[in-house]
Amino acid sequence: MREIVKYGHPALRRPAKPVTVPTAETRKVVDLMIASMRADHGIGLAAPQVGVSQRIVIYQLPEEDAPLRVLLNPRIVSAKGEQVGEEGCLSLPFLHGEVTRAREVVVKAMDLSGRPIRRRAVDLEARVLQHEIDHLDGILFIDRADPESLHWAVPEALMVTPEPALAE
Ligand code: NI
Repeated sequence: MREIVKYGHPALRRPAKPVTVPTAETRKVVDLMIASMRADHGIGLAAPQVGVSQRIVIYQLPEEDAPLRVLLNPRIVSAKGEQVGEEGCLSLPFLHGEVTRAREVVVKAMDLSGRPIRRRAVDLEARVLQHEIDHLDGILFIDRADPESLHWAVPEALMVTPEPALAE
């Protein structure tokens, strides 16, 4: 399984290409994305995060019975209101920051069968959509976060205790 690429990988900064017609190859990319997102306990993922420069986004909200949604060539056609909330990203592990986003968006996209879909989303779903669609244009949440709010939240289990300084 391919790993989620981390900050510094060029795919994260490259504008992704539209999917013209969904093929078996597209399905494979989506399957890889689903496995990667689940392995890392994410709620959304964009194809550039597995190193594939295609306009594909998946997400599944952390609610019981929330459907897994797959959007090809998603674009925000309208945005309303404002929400401020904390975000993180599987490509920038443990970094968090506050990002101001629209509270409500309407997104048009294509599904895996090539049919057009339209989705109205609010609150967390709207935030996830804006975050993931940004990835398709090479934009990361740190580009939009309030710089003062950026902070590391490294689990204690992963913290390395620095060596005590050598006394002269
Ligand atoms: Ni992200």
